[in-house]
Amino acid sequence: MTYTFTQSKALFQRAAKVIPQGIYGHFNPATTVPGFYPYFISRAKGCRFWDVDGNEYIDYACAYGPMILGYAHDRIDEAFARQARNGTATMPPSTLLVDLAEKMVEVNDCADWAVFAKNGADAISWAVALARGYRKRDKIVLAHGAYHGTQPWAGTNHIGVLPADRADVLMAPWGDANAFRRVVEENKNRIAGALFTPYHHPVFEPQALPAPGFWRDMRRICDENDIVLIIDDVRAGWRLDIKGSAHYFGFRPDLACYCKAIANGYPISALVGTDRMRMVAAKAFQTGSYWNNSPEMAAALACIDEMQKIDAAAICDSRGGELRRGLEERAAAHGLSFRMSGPNAIPFLHFTNESNFKRAQLFCRECSLRGVYFFWHHNMFLSAAHTEADIQKTIDVADQAFQIVKDQFGE
Ligand SMILES: Cc1ncc(COP(=O)(O)O)c(C=O)c1O
Repeated sequence: MTYTFTQSKALFQRAAKVIPQGIYGHFNPATTVPGFYPYFISRAKGCRFWDVDGNEYIDYACAYGPMILGYAHDRIDEAFARQARNGTATMPPSTLLVDLAEKMVEVNDCADWAVFAKNGADAISWAVALARGYRKRDKIVLAHGAYHGTQPWAGTNHIGVLPADRADVLMAPWGDANAFRRVVEENKNRIAGALFTPYHHPVFEPQALPAPGFWRDMRRICDENDIVLIIDDVRAGWRLDIKGSAHYFGFRPDLACYCKAIANGYPISALVGTDRMRMVAAKAFQTGSYWNNSPEMAAALACIDEMQKIDAAAICDSRGGELRRGLEERAAAHGLSFRMSGPNAIPFLHFTNESNFKRAQLFCRECSLRGVYFFWHHNMFLSAAHTEADIQKTIDVADQAFQIVKDQFGE
């Protein structure tokens, strides 16, 4: 079957007339290989989606993370729909608020309490406010290249950001506890919180796992200097470990932010914290129109239960391991320098002998044209819906794409 994108392109032209950029943010076609990828989809099921031109894909974007159990998952969708029939946004909240908070405390290693919002950025901004309120200090330390959302202080946007928005943000390289210690010493008693991802997953760069002792050192520096350690587990949360990525890497943060994999695609995020942060959390006024909606909570409860029952993190790790081995072996057989960095469940693909992504883009383009949806600029995601047969098919498609890269670039 030849993949064409006539409907996608026509729809994008319509979109561009009424929507700035046609499709905005990280869903914009510029993040793929424009012209060789679908712009709009018509339906999704399991680990597959079908675009508006009828092309079928094995999906490794997983909606940038929310899809962990498979699209249109019967159990999760039924839990959402059943609750929606009982009302969505109500005042007072439904009993599911308590059920879900109890579940979060039971599941998460570092949680004595939990609160809920909609997006990852909501939970992170809430955490930063709590750190400042708790310590009565201004400064927050972030890592170079880390993504925490489009809030002005997070530094991702360039439009409409004032110097004042970033005035209390300090930067440190991810993974270097000594560099973090130097930032802390240069700003003695002025740092409220350190906001880090559990491992480094920047865009346009290979990922980095923490070196042995890194998180122990970070925890110690935070404790010695009364700094609140906040973990942004929005992207990795529960794909590595149902107890949270901090548990996976063996440390305890003071606050942890979750979002993407909580409810298999229904909009909900969570901030959890330890007892010492409880009082400041009780004093803070944070809210949003839909933050207490009950159907998302029903979906989250079903999703967490299902992830525990099937050990979704272990499946993602196992499938990701098969994919990593298969791709690296096939690339090596073609004489190509190719590596998948980061955890098996959340891999980033790159050709180690280039920095301009030309090989990666060609590789992803040829995979897309054969029904495998890969990314070149951003990490990808495995889900519990990817089967061994899907991985095998993916490796066979990748083999053909590697041959094309070899033919064009030679190495
Ligand atoms: C690590 C990380 N933090 C925060 C965010 C922001 O989450 P949201 O887009 O739901 O606000 C993202 C989103 O991709 C993320 O990957």
